[in-house]
Amino acid sequence: MSILLSACDSESPVAVESTPVFSTSEFSGGETTIFDASSHAFSTPAPNLSASSLEKHLEGDVEFEANFVTAPAEVNPGLGPIYNNISCINCHARDGRGRPPKVDEKFVSMLFRLSLPKRADAMNGQPPIPVPGFGTQLNNRAIFGTAPEGTVKIDYTEQTLTTTDGTRVHLRYPNYTFTETYQPLPEEVELSPRVALSVFGLGLLEAIPEDTILAYADEADVNGDGISGKPNYVWDVVQQRYTLGRFGWKANQPTLLQQVAAAYHDDMGITTSLFMTESSAGQLQLTEHGATPEVSDEILEVVTFYVQTLAVPARRNVDDPQVKQGEQLFAKAQCASCHIPMLRTGVLAGVPSVSNQTIQPFTDMLLHDMGPDLADNRPDFHATGREWRTPPLWGIGLVKRVNGHTNFLHDGRARDLMEAILWHGGEAEVSRQAVEQMSKVERDALIAFLESL
Ligand code: HEC
Ligand code: HEC
Repeated sequence: MSILLSACDSESPVAVESTPVFSTSEFSGGETTIFDASSHAFSTPAPNLSASSLEKHLEGDVEFEANFVTAPAEVNPGLGPIYNNISCINCHARDGRGRPPKVDEKFVSMLFRLSLPKRADAMNGQPPIPVPGFGTQLNNRAIFGTAPEGTVKIDYTEQTLTTTDGTRVHLRYPNYTFTETYQPLPEEVELSPRVALSVFGLGLLEAIPEDTILAYADEADVNGDGISGKPNYVWDVVQQRYTLGRFGWKANQPTLLQQVAAAYHDDMGITTSLFMTESSAGQLQLTEHGATPEVSDEILEVVTFYVQTLAVPARRNVDDPQVKQGEQLFAKAQCASCHIPMLRTGVLAGVPSVSNQTIQPFTDMLLHDMGPDLADNRPDFHATGREWRTPPLWGIGLVKRVNGHTNFLHDGRARDLMEAILWHGGEAEVSRQAVEQMSKVERDALIAFLESL
């Protein structure tokens, strides 16, 4: 093993044996960890919930799965008039991740954010500018009698990358064309494709102290490692001020409460006390105006609690020699500079089960320039068109089991973990090159490590 590693280790004299192995624990989610590698791995309540908390979690589960219908109706009215899907679970199947549609499939668990370009003299960090008649998200479905805003056609351009040892890897680059828009879209519209993120372990991420996250930020790259994690600051509608962004592919939502309310609003057309104006407001077609929120504060709270308290699946095969080799390679290729293996949570008010936990999320919750190939060219508050939040890697080896696919990255373009790595550019250029220069045995070990998460 050491021979293999030192063969491509011309720069650093560090011997393999002394390469720090940062995490050997199976407890990815601290005391919220569950030992379940089945298709339920993402949808199990944290095992350390009290009886009353478990009850609240299960109430939230029911709401997360509830199908909404057109008002007026006895149960779950308020859908639309324009929307992307009718329930949370339809996009976050088994609390896992979405994917782009296959040829001839309709969009289910992927959506497009829209905006107009900012004026050249706009202040840094402004919210995205809505597109007149469309808002900031393309709603591809609508209730009876209302036109959907339109949809998108995806086609892929294939390209080939050859690693140093001559292995050819096929990558696909997505191209998007708007179709069936109910009125013309302005030419300069910016679009950001996003697949649904998984929703387990999120209370832990919300409980990471802000100071801890900011300690990893290095916007001006003072330490000269080429990596300059940057916090996003986004509008918090409850506090009425800009606060640290944590959720969404660009850390574009500050709290789980607001993320959930925004999902009801943007994805399902359902108002809550946080977002009282219908997403169709300002459109010439039908606009519903209600004085009371379509989803109550009680429901909003239990759904938020539900996504705060889903367990994190334990790591598997941590003592497997190949996995251990992959762990060392992960550290050596600087993956751990952004995908921070271990963090400690602070206190999240009202959610003791996620407070004061040692966790292995493999994220720094910060934004990174990932290069032109991954860019969506649509700024989102302080995130530029090339920046994305480091996604947590916990549970990534179970996505296939849970969701039946291995589509990764914000737009699901990667068809497996190696493709996801080989799209890394920008601040992760050095990491990608390190992987390109690995032998097949080493690349297999790196993947085995990721699959153990
Ligand atoms: C049309 C599909 C769709 C529906 C319906 C939907 N989501 Fe999502 N969800 C997404 C996408 C896409 C993202 C990533 C959004 C982004 O990057 O801005 C996301 C992100 C999230 C996140 C943040 C995850 C993270 O790691 O940052 C949470 C929490 C969430 N959704 C909860 C919900 C809840 C609760 C509902 C129902 C009220 C819901 N979602 C409905 C597609 C959907
Ligand atoms: C500069 C920070 C940075 C470094 C270094 C880095 N990553 Fe990432 N990684 C990211 C970001 C940001 C994304 C999301 C990009 C996107 O979706 O367009 C990502 C995405 C991923 C994904 C897909 C995750 C998902 O949920 O779809 C995997 C797997 C991954 N990285 C593994 C690695 C490995 C292995 C290395 C080292 C060879 C590495 N990363 C190095 C920042 C980084």
